[in-house]
Amino acid sequence: MDKQKLYIETYGCQMNFADSEIVASILSQEYSLTSNEKEADLILINTCSIRDNAEQRVLHRLTELMSLKKQHKNLRIGIIGCMAERLKGSLIDNEKVDIVAGPDAYRSLPQMLGDNTYNINVILSETETYDDISPVRYDTNGISAFVSIMRGCNNFCSYCVVPYTRGRERSRNLQTIIDECRQLAAEGYKEVTLLGQNVNSYRYENYTFPKLMQAVAEISPLLRVRFATSHPKDLSDELLEVMSAYPNICKSIHLPAQSGNNNVLEHMNRKYTREWYLNRIAAIRRYMPDCAISTDIIAGFCDESLKEHQDTLSLMQEVGYEYAFMFKYSMREGTAAHRHMVDNVPEKEKIRRLEEIIALQQNLSLQSNQKDIGKTFEVLIEGCSKRSQDQLFGRNSQNKVVIFNKGTHQKGEYVQVHITGCSAATLFGEVKE
Ligand code: 5AD
Ligand code: SF4
Repeated sequence: MDKQKLYIETYGCQMNFADSEIVASILSQEYSLTSNEKEADLILINTCSIRDNAEQRVLHRLTELMSLKKQHKNLRIGIIGCMAERLKGSLIDNEKVDIVAGPDAYRSLPQMLGDNTYNINVILSETETYDDISPVRYDTNGISAFVSIMRGCNNFCSYCVVPYTRGRERSRNLQTIIDECRQLAAEGYKEVTLLGQNVNSYRYENYTFPKLMQAVAEISPLLRVRFATSHPKDLSDELLEVMSAYPNICKSIHLPAQSGNNNVLEHMNRKYTREWYLNRIAAIRRYMPDCAISTDIIAGFCDESLKEHQDTLSLMQEVGYEYAFMFKYSMREGTAAHRHMVDNVPEKEKIRRLEEIIALQQNLSLQSNQKDIGKTFEVLIEGCSKRSQDQLFGRNSQNKVVIFNKGTHQKGEYVQVHITGCSAATLFGEVKE
């Protein structure tokens, strides 16, 4: 019998993209994947709850997809991931979806779909890591892959819904991570990104994150290793030492600051101060003067004064981030900030502060890129540039996008590129033959 067809659409963080590959694997006996939603028998939307607008986008898209049921009577539609966990049965009652599965319930999908005995599972687990499941890498450039090393979060930043939707922190078996990375290298992948909400608290038996990084870096000098995300409170010198010792560990750290003001940081329950954060930045620069640093910033958190917002701007200036993800605060039900604080920065002012933050970062990114003109970087080629078939793009160790003329080069090669120009977002250069 022909397999049924599964279409998966993924929203949110890299972790969700890695999870969709696990879901595809779990359902691979019964379903083959399609990239065309119109021919699907099952549509799964892997969702994100981090901000209200992420949820609104999915709900809008869901109405569009639900209309496909008019042509295809047996089509089933499921919501999986963080919105499934947060909104639970209301998705069935109000949105009329067929299946609801939270992030720890993916193993039960074949049964849920097979015998229809139940259509919702949002039970969170303290142990599930899907460590024995080989992800089906269905949306890949064949060069760079995500490998999930832990799940959940125990930090309970007061604004954040993740500890509620993804449950408690748990680390994946070290050997299964190494095996997966080895397999990827054998298949020709050139880069792995180790993923977790807070990778620095990885712990499996006696192994910590620096030990894991070391083990992955030793698989092959031609396999680049990246990781995300680090919580500043846990960024150890030991990790920086390992990073600096291995040329194939990329010199780029995503270290979300969220705010530059101690009072706000305390209200956010971030468990570090501006001074501690800057001390960690100094440590990074000491071990790796060429390391790129990126961040996440939230504009207009509860009670944030103008002066406190300006402290965020000054922190950004002081660090000189290469890159930033910037958001306006979005109140999430059930979080500590929702229970104990008031979302009282007016929407217009939030937008104004966010725009100020974005404009500053634009400048900082441009300044950082301008400093790279005249330097030569090793670049891993990822594919054709969007603008022209005659140009390729790749990334340097610092995770900056570099564009250059194709010549005889191909995806997957490492090339030395001399940088000759830049914009705020991109470096331009010439391959040194
Ligand atoms: N509102 C706005 N931004 C948020 N983030 C997490 N929760 C919220 C929220 N409620 C941001 C943080 C985090 C990133 C993944 O999303 O900056 O680091
Ligand atoms: Fe959310 Fe904080 Fe955990 Fe990141 S560390 S997922 S911001 S609670």
